[in-house]
Order: sequence, then structure tokens, then C-alpha cells
Amino acid sequence: MIYSEKVMDHFKNPRNVGEIENADGIGEVGNAKCGDIMRIYLKVEDNIIKDVKFKTYGCGSAIASSSMATELIKGKTLDEAWTLTNKAVAEALDGLPPIKMHCSVLAEDAIHKAINDYRVKQGLEPYDMEDHS
Ligand code: FES
Ligand code: FES
Repeated sequence: MIYSEKVMDHFKNPRNVGEIENADGIGEVGNAKCGDIMRIYLKVEDNIIKDVKFKTYGCGSAIASSSMATELIKGKTLDEAWTLTNKAVAEALDGLPPIKMHCSVLAEDAIHKAINDYRVKQGLEPYDMEDHS
């Protein structure tokens, strides 16, 4: 079996799928080569992620990693959520096959875009997308 039980669980029963109406931050990323798309919605209160939902046109690994990523950032501060890496998400899933690691990057990038969307809407400077610390 190339997929861990956790990957299969999050693929079959993904957490936090959907949209948030009047989201405070939305991030969308796409992979131009394959057409896969990931969208993340954030509800923020007092700098804390109160709710998060995602939608994706991506493969099972993209679904599982977004599901896990949303679970990991829910209830966290925006700064804590910013430091979540796709590697940490893959580890929380007990690993992803190497050729599927790029799918977990979609979730990380979409979370970063959603956080920056929120920051810009609040009149704050967006974080540097390349700075993952
Ligand atoms: Fe499109 Fe993996 S093939 S993100
Ligand atoms: Fe495209 Fe995984 S999201 S192959």
C-alpha cells in the first residue's frame, strides 16, 4: 500500500470541505501545468482562525493534505498557521509518496494566500510568500 491509513482516512472522509460565506480571507492557487486548483477560506477573529474550509480540483493526496492542513491550523493564530509547511502536513499524514509531495504544496500555498488576503483587507502588509518562517 503506497498510501498510509491516515491519507486514506482523510481522502475518504475529508474534514472542512466547503466554502465560508463572507470569508475574511480567501486564497486560491493553481498548478498551470495540470489545471489542479485549491481554494482555502478563513474565518478570523482576534487573530485566530475560527473556521477554515477548502475546495479542490485535485487528486486524493491534495484532498488528504488539505484536510489535514485545515485541521492543523484551526484554532491557531495566523502567525502559527503561516509556519505550517507542507512537510509537516505530510508528516502528520504519516507520509506521502515522493511523487505526491507537490500536491501538499497546494494547501500550504493556498493557506499563505488566504492569510495575506486577510492581511491586505485589514490594511496590513502582506507577508513575503517565500518566507516560511
Ligand atoms: Fe497537478 Fe499535482 S499534478 S498538482
Ligand atoms: Fe494534482 Fe495531486 S493535486 S496530482
